[in-house]
Amino acid sequence: MSVVYLNGQFMPASEAKISPMDRGFLFGDGIYEVIPSYGGRCVGFSAHIKRLQQGLAALEIDCVLTEQEWQQLVQRLITENGAGNLGVYLHVSRGTDTKRAHAYPKGIQPTIFAYCFDIASEPQADMNTAVRYKVMTAPDLRWQRCHIKSTALLGNVMHHQQAAALGLNECILFDEQEFLTEGSSTNVFIVKDAVVITPPLSHKVLPGITRQLLLKILHEHSKLKVEERAVSINEVLAADEVWLTSSSKEVAAVTEVDGQAVGDSEPGAVWLQAQQLFSQYKYDYL
Ligand code: PDD
Repeated sequence: MSVVYLNGQFMPASEAKISPMDRGFLFGDGIYEVIPSYGGRCVGFSAHIKRLQQGLAALEIDCVLTEQEWQQLVQRLITENGAGNLGVYLHVSRGTDTKRAHAYPKGIQPTIFAYCFDIASEPQADMNTAVRYKVMTAPDLRWQRCHIKSTALLGNVMHHQQAAALGLNECILFDEQEFLTEGSSTNVFIVKDAVVITPPLSHKVLPGITRQLLLKILHEHSKLKVEERAVSINEVLAADEVWLTSSSKEVAAVTEVDGQAVGDSEPGAVWLQAQQLFSQYKYDYL
């Protein structure tokens, strides 16, 4: 039976209850994180907590837990759930009010929820076992604060479903000028002539921790040229390689965009190097 954390207590998942007046339920008024953990070791823990705290500050949600307190909470949750390959989900909503009213109410306590779910074992830099991702492109129809990791994910959910309905793995998104933003639940990189390119951070993109970690690792442990700059849809369609990054996927090779092969339809040589370096150094940072 899985053990979850809710508002200061650890308990069986079946016993965790919150009010329907919780603003997370009524408005999606909250912030979340997903942290990968393998055998009790988290990847990018401090960076995930920093992003959580920045999101809470942006929404003016007063959550007093320090990084050390989050660490204790997460370690206990991981231990209680067997310390295998786990995704740790953290969720802080503004809390429960007595009525549904849009303005931020004063004097309510945030609702703090955390649970673990099983994830696949650590991704490997291996051409034989690499998942080949097939994706579609679409105009980005989400809101204009995509840098905030809000629990209000309906825009992302609808874009993901657009792809899933066609049997595809991800929908990669483009702004009004047809520049790449990100995927519905991933950041996107392309490779052209051995140069690794990804869009710069802005309000259109979630500052992915895997993205951040990968950029650092490539800068410090490879000779690859890396650029953070606007990427047009034509560049994506003509790329030698396309990658998706996220906490659970790490660096994932895309082999098909809108039904067209990427490169020779196989994960590329630069992907292999990037995932190899990521596997080697991911616990050394943040
Ligand atoms: N998704 N962009 C979006 C819109 C995301 O939702 C995510 C993560 C990422 C990658 O971020 P990171 O590298 O920090 O995981 C980019 C998570 C895993 C989710 O919603 O489940």
